[in-house]
Amino acid sequence: MLEQTVPIVSNDRDTDLYFRLVVRAPRIAPLVQPGQFAHVRIPPLKDALLRRPFSIFQVAGDTLSILYKAVGKGTDALSQMRPGDLLSLLGPLGHGFTVPQPGGDTPLLVAGGYGMAALYLLAQRSAQKGIAFVGGRRRVDILADNEFQALGWDVRASTEDGSHGERGLVTQPLLAELRRRATGRKLFACGPTPMLKAVAQIAHDFNAPAELSMDQHMCCGVGACLTCVIPIRIGGGWEYQRACTEGPVFDARHIAWDAPGIPAP
Ligand SMILES: Cc1cc2nc3c(=O)[nH]c(=O)nc-3n(C[C@H](O)[C@H](O)[C@H](O)COP(=O)(O)OP(=O)(O)OC[C@H]3O[C@@H](n4cnc5c(N)ncnc54)[C@H](O)[C@@H]3O)c2cc1C
Ligand code: FES
Repeated sequence: MLEQTVPIVSNDRDTDLYFRLVVRAPRIAPLVQPGQFAHVRIPPLKDALLRRPFSIFQVAGDTLSILYKAVGKGTDALSQMRPGDLLSLLGPLGHGFTVPQPGGDTPLLVAGGYGMAALYLLAQRSAQKGIAFVGGRRRVDILADNEFQALGWDVRASTEDGSHGERGLVTQPLLAELRRRATGRKLFACGPTPMLKAVAQIAHDFNAPAELSMDQHMCCGVGACLTCVIPIRIGGGWEYQRACTEGPVFDARHIAWDAPGIPAP
């Protein structure tokens, strides 16, 4: 894990409220593993000491990129920054996904909204191509689907308003696919907590392994403050683990969904 002051290369609107930020981070970029995140200090913010966590979306040479949605004061301030402006990056942070190896289970990716950002490097580095189920409320919430297709993945989109792909939740086509064949498949998911909970239930019902990226609210990002804890089953009980260090990616079977600590939908 390194801290680096990095210049913005580009910061353009992708769709609607979503932006793509590219920064030159020659020390951090080569270290990134799929599912890891960067903790970003945004200098124009008054409370700039508080960093914001974002999945590392893509890595190319000495640059890395982030796909983010402007949802509040930090991301709004970030969206107004321009090429040449400086950010402070802490990263790569966290424990990411297990990259599929040759001869292993076929990966099925499940992404809701900006969850695609956490899954792109996994798709790129996976020894096997599988199916990427991508969902959102509307067409504008489906991000980077062309880029997954360009990697050779079978992309199945769904939107709640039916404006792109199948109408409904992203878990519907996933269920249909698992009913067709569940053996030899492994799920990898990132998105809103209710979606992750549904994916965990589906994985349980089909006895399929699953890894979930749990995007908890974070403060320090490095294991010191305990803001981000998640209840994890250990033996017959459970204990809190830190999403920023032991996670954000956890084995779905280990998450104690009914214990206190999982954010309500
Ligand atoms: C490991 C990790 C990876 C993430 N990756 C991405 C990503 O790739 N792209 C992206 O757009 N966002 C990502 N997020 C969420 C992102 O960190 C928040 O959207 C951001 O911190 C909001 O900052 P803000 O100051 O704009 O919002 P605030 O003004 O602080 O809050 C505005 C709204 O955003 C919600 N919010 C704040 N933090 C989170 C969070 N951690 N998860 C969900 N909602 C939150 C608040 O509840 C509130 O409703 C990730 C979060 C984590 C923990
Ligand atoms: S954010 Fe501080 S311990 Fe995880």
